Amino acid sequence: MFKNLCCENNIYRNLVGGNWVTSETSKLIEIKSPCDGSVIGKVQAMSKEEADNAIANARDAQEGWNKIPLNERALILLKAADLLDKNADEIAEVMIREIAKDRNSAVSEVHRTADYIRFTADTAKNMTGETVPGDLFPGTGKGKISIVNRVPLGVVLAISPFNYPVNLSASKIAPALMAGNSVVLKPATQGSISALHLVRVFQEAGVPAGVLNTITGRGSEIGDYVVTHPLVDFINFTGSTEVGVHISKISTMTPLLMELGGKDAAIVLEDADLDLAAKNIVSGAYSYSGQRCTAVKRILVVDKVADELVKKVEEKVKTLKVGNPLKEDVNIAPLIDDAAADYVEELIKDAKDKGAKLLVGGNREGNLIYPTLFDYVTQDMRVAWEEPFGPVLPIIRVKDVDEAIDITNKSKYGLQSSVFTKDIDKAFYVADKVDVGTVQVNNKPERGPDHFPFTGTKASGIGTQGIRYSIEAMSRRKAIVLNIGE
Ligand code: NAP
Ligand code: G3H
Repeated sequence: MFKNLCCENNIYRNLVGGNWVTSETSKLIEIKSPCDGSVIGKVQAMSKEEADNAIANARDAQEGWNKIPLNERALILLKAADLLDKNADEIAEVMIREIAKDRNSAVSEVHRTADYIRFTADTAKNMTGETVPGDLFPGTGKGKISIVNRVPLGVVLAISPFNYPVNLSASKIAPALMAGNSVVLKPATQGSISALHLVRVFQEAGVPAGVLNTITGRGSEIGDYVVTHPLVDFINFTGSTEVGVHISKISTMTPLLMELGGKDAAIVLEDADLDLAAKNIVSGAYSYSGQRCTAVKRILVVDKVADELVKKVEEKVKTLKVGNPLKEDVNIAPLIDDAAADYVEELIKDAKDKGAKLLVGGNREGNLIYPTLFDYVTQDMRVAWEEPFGPVLPIIRVKDVDEAIDITNKSKYGLQSSVFTKDIDKAFYVADKVDVGTVQVNNKPERGPDHFPFTGTKASGIGTQGIRYSIEAMSRRKAIVLNIGE
């Protein structure tokens, strides 16, 4: 399906104005598999002029796209969803090689994305405007009515991270398109081949020329240029807090939707079901080798049950399967690159040096970090606060629920938090006090189901993602006031 269109001689092109174009810079970026270092393909580093062209194409196509009746736009998205399901194995294979995601997670990401797109089409079809009567306000008579509709913003710049190259690209593209916008996608460089496959699916489904365009190239080189581009009307970004903050500083007056880093805590209280807690914590912390914004990134357990919980968690961590996802089903695979592994190793060393008790792992082979579990982590250790984005889990023992809440809230992040307890009053007590976007009661942190609101407070984001919320974020209210006389 994909050959000879977006790719020729293993060089991936960009979709601009409905054509798969070759960059004139001849600057190619080799995409190597984190699994074995083999070259998967090459993507093009687009020049500023080529980025201008992609954005201008999006601008030109937007009005025409918005004129297509919404129910017809929905049919195109539904077709894209079906194509994704049909090509799931092929796309998952690319993802396994490109970002070292295990097979089950890669296949499920593609199907989840198809479901996301379908739900987006259905949701948009059920979103209506409102009329607001004037006489609610003192001094206004019956003859004034505001008719409020939603209109698109224009050109949406979608910037996605490496860890969900298909899902976190589609969860920007689909709501933007249903809201009547055109889109320019700048995928993560490591992840861009997977993302280009997704874009090919949208094209094949019938998204018209110019409505969806792509820009590949290093964010550090082309990023500032595109986020400050005068023809970009909205930026929908998922990625690190560092880059998110940078974009928010330079993109003056362009509205933003940002989902950034996290340091999600699993708070375990004395009356918790410890088996349930341990199971959720281990899958939450180590799936996709900890490279998820919503991974459990610290355990805050009250002293009374700490020994028992730690034993259960340790047993489970020791059963995680480590290896190469190209060859076998694994829980822990090589990290995205050496720099990521270097960073995780630094955090491990710092914790060891400062006296944390290493229960499992701590070792590294190339960019593969073995699942690592530390007990007796204290607040002077970096791993208590920093986001490893790797398979390292610190256990911080606390005296009571209030200390757990206090440590949760000292984090600069505020994505999610879990609380494990059988007491609904305690669950609500914690939920009320922790400063995060979502509190999970007796479950690991997670973004889905995808129609739920997904919000980060503090350094974890700006605005709310989630199907209806994303459509709302990428459209604005427009009011027409009827003055019909008394
Ligand atoms: P990243 O390094 O921040 O990159 C994210 C995207 O931004 C990539 O497409 C990157 O392109 C691009 N970029 C880099 N510099 C840019 C610039 N100056 N202007 C515009 N774009 C720029 O993040 P990542 O390593 O891909 O992902 C890991 C991080 O994302 C973690 O912190 C994780 O918590 C966070 N994340 C958050 C969520 C959430 O929903 N809250 C979801 C997933 C990931 P290049 O790849 O070319 O550099
Ligand atoms: O990495 C960040 C993603 O938004 C997390 O999604 O909770 O489904 O893994 P997830």
